Amino acid sequence: MRTLLFFSFLLNLLSNSSSLDSLKRPQYITDGQNLTSANDTFQLGFFSPGASTNRFLGIWFKEAPQTVVWIANRNSPIYNTSGVLSISENGNLVLSDAYMGNTVWFSNSTNTSNPTSMQLLESGNLVLRDLITNGILWQSFDWPTNTFLPGMKIGKNLKTGHEWSLVSWLTSDDPENGKYRYTMDWHGSPEIVMWYGTAKRYRTGPWIGLRFSGIPEISTYQDMFIFNFTNNPDEISFGFSSKPGALPSRVALNESGVVRRLVWVQNISSWSTFWSGPRDQCDYYSECGAFGVCNANAATICSCLQGFVPKSPLNWYMRDNSQGCVRRAELGCDRAYGFYAAKGVKLPDTHSAIVDTTINLDQCREKCLHNCSCVAYSAADTRNEGSSCIMWVDNLVDTRFIDGGQVLYIKVAQSEIVISRTYYSFSENTSLKDTELPLFDMKTVVSATNNFCFRNKIGEGGFGTVYKGKLQDGQLIAVKRLTNGSPQVVHEFMNEVSLMAKLQHRNLVRLLGCCIYGNERMLVYEYMSNKSLDFFIFDEQKRASMDWAMRLDIILGIARGMLYLHQDSRINIIHRDLKAANVLLDNEMVPKISDFGTARLFTGSQVEIATRTIVGTHGYLSPEYAMDGKLSVKSDVYSFGVLLLEILSGRRNQGDVNLIAYTWSLWEQCELRKLLDPTVCGPQPMLDLLRCIQVGLLCVQECPEDRPLMSLVVFMLSSEIPALPLPKKPVICSGTWPIQASTMATRSLNWFNFTTLEGR
Ligand SMILES: *[C@@H]1O[C@H](CO)[C@@H](O)[C@H](O)[C@H]1NC(C)=O
Ligand SMILES: *[C@@H]1O[C@H](CO)[C@@H](O)[C@H](O)[C@H]1NC(C)=O
Ligand SMILES: *[C@@H]1O[C@H](CO)[C@@H](O)[C@H](O)[C@H]1NC(C)=O
Ligand SMILES: *[C@@H]1O[C@H](CO)[C@@H](O)[C@H](O)[C@H]1NC(C)=O
Ligand SMILES: *[C@@H]1O[C@H](CO)[C@@H](O)[C@H](O)[C@H]1NC(C)=O
Ligand SMILES: *[C@@H]1O[C@H](CO)[C@@H](O)[C@H](O)[C@H]1NC(C)=O
Ligand SMILES: *[C@@H]1O[C@H](CO)[C@@H](O)[C@H](O)[C@H]1NC(C)=O
Ligand SMILES: *[C@@H]1O[C@H](CO)[C@@H](O)[C@H](O)[C@H]1NC(C)=O
Ligand SMILES: *[C@@H]1O[C@H](CO)[C@@H](O)[C@H](O)[C@H]1NC(C)=O
Ligand SMILES: *[C@@H]1O[C@H](CO)[C@@H](O)[C@H](O)[C@H]1NC(C)=O
Ligand SMILES: *[C@@H]1O[C@H](CO)[C@@H](O)[C@H](O)[C@H]1NC(C)=O
Ligand SMILES: *[C@@H]1O[C@H](CO)[C@@H](O)[C@H](O)[C@H]1NC(C)=O
Repeated sequence: MRTLLFFSFLLNLLSNSSSLDSLKRPQYITDGQNLTSANDTFQLGFFSPGASTNRFLGIWFKEAPQTVVWIANRNSPIYNTSGVLSISENGNLVLSDAYMGNTVWFSNSTNTSNPTSMQLLESGNLVLRDLITNGILWQSFDWPTNTFLPGMKIGKNLKTGHEWSLVSWLTSDDPENGKYRYTMDWHGSPEIVMWYGTAKRYRTGPWIGLRFSGIPEISTYQDMFIFNFTNNPDEISFGFSSKPGALPSRVALNESGVVRRLVWVQNISSWSTFWSGPRDQCDYYSECGAFGVCNANAATICSCLQGFVPKSPLNWYMRDNSQGCVRRAELGCDRAYGFYAAKGVKLPDTHSAIVDTTINLDQCREKCLHNCSCVAYSAADTRNEGSSCIMWVDNLVDTRFIDGGQVLYIKVAQSEIVISRTYYSFSENTSLKDTELPLFDMKTVVSATNNFCFRNKIGEGGFGTVYKGKLQDGQLIAVKRLTNGSPQVVHEFMNEVSLMAKLQHRNLVRLLGCCIYGNERMLVYEYMSNKSLDFFIFDEQKRASMDWAMRLDIILGIARGMLYLHQDSRINIIHRDLKAANVLLDNEMVPKISDFGTARLFTGSQVEIATRTIVGTHGYLSPEYAMDGKLSVKSDVYSFGVLLLEILSGRRNQGDVNLIAYTWSLWEQCELRKLLDPTVCGPQPMLDLLRCIQVGLLCVQECPEDRPLMSLVVFMLSSEIPALPLPKKPVICSGTWPIQASTMATRSLNWFNFTTLEGR
């Protein structure tokens, strides 16, 4: 009765024909009645989503009634089939609940006394027209729900502040506003961003002329759609329309945060996905953190951009990339720098990027070069790279490799440029084509080392001589000049070059490049001002300057470097010659593992490698390797254990001192603290010390299987796990030691020979 009373002044559409696409006051429709667009594509009416019994006024594809593209009252369901859609006196659309007698939803357009009419267009747009002026007062296309149809747009009207965006349903049974939003970020260089609550989840990348930077495939749909990106002072928006004859299509944001472009395939009566995002792990926002770059085709998807290293290598190893990367070489504003070209990428977040369409790419480069806050630049429009510019002045976040990607020019220190400028290619039997190795020309090296002046000599060994040098930009380098000739030397040179070119870690000495000139073979490294570890720990005076904390830091650093070599670099490496002389120290006493001349590659599944030639250094060789040639990562773990004990005790495991036997006897007597170098002053947390020595003993156990992997070593050293495993008695006491020195081809290059100190 109430229903009748309430609507007695209106005229039910039912009294008219059933297939109408429009109505005007005083006509109305009730639950069960529909409007149908002229050519039967869309329908408007009441529906219940999924398993719900709540009623909503919506628009759907007539051929696919489950595919609802718009909802009037998504946040205010009607609980009975008592909904009524009509036009109010002031010309607005009104959705009422006849049972409750209230207004559920209305179109809040300008009030008018003119007659108005609503019409469902073939495009799926419900429009409210002023019948006198024929102007559109309101349209559903301005109020999208979770679906974007041809003719709609996503963006912002900068004049009125009105925003067009998609909001997901809460669940498939409830169209209420869900957690995901798909909106235009109109700051910087505009791009569309999917949000989960207040967190960015996915970006399309900026519009770069014909497509979004992160969706290169969009351009392959240009025979079906016309894309229209508007960026002017009145409006920033992205819209698309279908070309005549194109199949029905839509872009929809679903409840689990996937946005898809779908096309209706008539003969199979279903939707087919053309494109969706995020499409893979690398599409998730900031997957690799600031200055990281994601490669979906790599085993380890995250790496750092050229010139950057993981901020927290341990977390990075644990696949927690959220902290991203930091510069390897700081960019002081006064220092020389240049640009590294990262090719084939989706441009990083452009929220705070600066766009200048009045300058070309060369001017862009100049501008970026001379502005300290600029960290990278790129072309803003790929159609005409000469006349547009984007500059980043913030962290580079959410960069990924992508087919058909662009070039991003990243500002890096000059020392990094040397690397990217020239690529090494070597034609002797050797394939180094892929290793992006910089080639220093002889002139540069000669001038940096004062023509290999003896005063610049800082070390010497069986391999050749190491010189200190200074590049023109002031960077200090160490040049390892190999003695001419033997195939073995050339082989090890190539080995070191190709390995080092692929490695980047805070605890590995960095190869800057190499130089080949006639028979000359030279490796150029960053210079380490504090020389090598043996120079400190075995020196009566120097070792007193190393307190407990410094020693522990060095041990941990070496462990992390070894972990990277074994498990975390793009290739897996057994160093084979880890020892104090091969650990260099920078000016902050950060340890850097060096000398990869004898390192061996192994594949992930390879547990043990049989070798004929045994290389390494007496005192650090594991028994199974020294005697049986069985090489594995556990051989390095053994060497690490020896080195750890040396660092703590200040004694060499060589000659008369059998450090391992000595440590074991202290362990048996519960006197481990006696191992610590007596020159160490300052506080020495006893538990840390004991834990550390125990880890050392675990590493030098006879059986390789008993020794921990470097990952466990790092974990045991850097955390306070209460109980460590008990070490077994090391081989040294079991009678098989000492092994015959003659079974070993020991060789080593001491970088910093004590007798040839600089400045002598
Ligand atoms: C309105 O559309 C729905 C969904 O297609 C359909 O079930 C219903 O029969 C239609 N009502 C009328 C009156 O055409
Ligand atoms: C409906 O289809 C006819 C025939 O294909 C076409 O001429 C007409 O323009 C279409 N109307 C609308 C509104 O699309
Ligand atoms: C309408 O819904 C209300 C509350 O959900 C319910 O109490 C009432 O019985 C329903 N009426 C009809 C006619 O379905
Ligand atoms: C119209 O209604 C929407 C909510 O439906 C509201 O966000 C908007 O501010 C309203 N606009 C005006 C002009 O009242
Ligand atoms: C239109 O009129 C209704 C009631 O008549 C009022 O609530 C509303 O604020 C008016 N809207 C505008 C935009 O004037
Ligand atoms: C592109 O979008 C703008 C703003 O919505 C509109 O003014 C313009 O007519 C559109 N251009 C085309 C070709 O659709
Ligand atoms: C959203 O779309 C993706 C991709 O098609 C699909 O895997 C996922 O199940 C969808 N989520 C829901 C809730 O339907
Ligand atoms: C549907 O039509 C397309 C062309 O429009 C054709 O390529 C495809 O094989 C058809 N599929 C079926 C199941 O008939
Ligand atoms: C560098 O660029 C930023 C951002 O455009 C600008 O605010 C600043 O003034 C520029 N600095 C110089 C020295 O041009
Ligand atoms: C380089 O390697 C290829 C194939 O491994 C071999 O045929 C060729 O003789 C080698 N060249 C030299 C100079 O050793
Ligand atoms: C390196 O130093 C040792 C002594 O510490 C010396 O015996 C050796 O000859 C030196 N090697 C070279 C090549 O100078
Ligand atoms: C390491 O080198 C730096 C710079 O040359 C120097 O200041 C520092 O004292 C050295 N550290 C030690 C422990 O000698």
